[in-house]
Amino acid sequence: MASEDFRTIWLHPDDPEVVQIIDQRLLPHDYSIHNLHSWSDGVEAITDMYVRGAPLIGATAAWSLYLAALHGKFPKEEVAHAAEVLLQSRPTAVNLRWAVERVMAHVADAADGDLARIIRADAEAICAEDVDICLGIGRHGLTLLEEISQRKNGDTVNVLTHCNAGALATINWGTATAPIYLARKAGIDVHVWVDETRPRNQGSQLTAWELAQNDVAHTLIVDNAGGHLMQHGQVDIVITGTDRTTRNGDVANKIGTYLKALAAFDNNVPFYVALPSTTIDWSTADGVSEIPIEERDASEVTMSYGVLDGVSCNIRTAAHDTKVANPAFDVTPARLVTGLITERGICDASAEGLADLFPEEAAI
Ligand code: MRU
Repeated sequence: MASEDFRTIWLHPDDPEVVQIIDQRLLPHDYSIHNLHSWSDGVEAITDMYVRGAPLIGATAAWSLYLAALHGKFPKEEVAHAAEVLLQSRPTAVNLRWAVERVMAHVADAADGDLARIIRADAEAICAEDVDICLGIGRHGLTLLEEISQRKNGDTVNVLTHCNAGALATINWGTATAPIYLARKAGIDVHVWVDETRPRNQGSQLTAWELAQNDVAHTLIVDNAGGHLMQHGQVDIVITGTDRTTRNGDVANKIGTYLKALAAFDNNVPFYVALPSTTIDWSTADGVSEIPIEERDASEVTMSYGVLDGVSCNIRTAAHDTKVANPAFDVTPARLVTGLITERGICDASAEGLADLFPEEAAI
């Protein structure tokens, strides 16, 4: 992990008709590789969160289209149908749409016999580009951690993060974690407050696990602890990921991110969002009114997954008839975001800031 060759999705080394992923539902208790044989296996992996995080969801969609091209009796129709179903599988993360549209544009005029080869090359390119992009985010974000470390005369830099925007949410390195991994490599004393991130506990089950694999000092906290820690000067910077950022700099991310941004604002703690440009939705301006927020199953709130006496189990924590709402994401308005860390540099969370870094996209 955070080593050069770690990957979250890859082609089976002995069978190019099978795509392999880590079954992230089982972490941190079991590290299990899961095989995708068909595009509908890919849809299931996205919907049921075997894979999660905007960039990895996009890559999984691209690989699913490859499987559709391989196995379809009429490959073009199969790929088109798979694309439609994939686009519905998770509504908030925009990389999914980006990846599907990219692949479909590349095969628009392709013959049936060429589809699988073209889509495989595209899926491989999407993954390779994501690794480079995350490293770019890491290099730019590192400058922020270096500044804090210098200001504190080498004392511990305390970062707070929410959800998992780590290597597991991308192909490698992560978005929010890339600067942290590079800081660790550079010898900066860095410590991470890891939000548990109810209801699916991506913080405790994924972020804490991957930070431990990489020997990064970290402490798990419940989601409600962040404000208290900020009031007491125990957080130097908040860095989160995002599932969709509008062209005005509003940021959709895992539910609870907005509350962290409010607490950071009130306590003068810099609040940064790390994102690949593939997560920017240039067609959307106002995040609160325009970004669809995924409503997930009530069981995510009423049940909890864990291990008891060595056996994995789900336990019910709420009464059977309790009414539940489970919005999976919220939108943090740009005014609460100190800056966006992208692969091209750090900018203001504003239309002007993003347009300066990505003039070719902003002009369309
Ligand atoms: O619902 P998930 O687990 O797919 O959501 C992922 C997130 O919201 C992450 O926090 C992340 O920042 C976005 S992907 C780098």
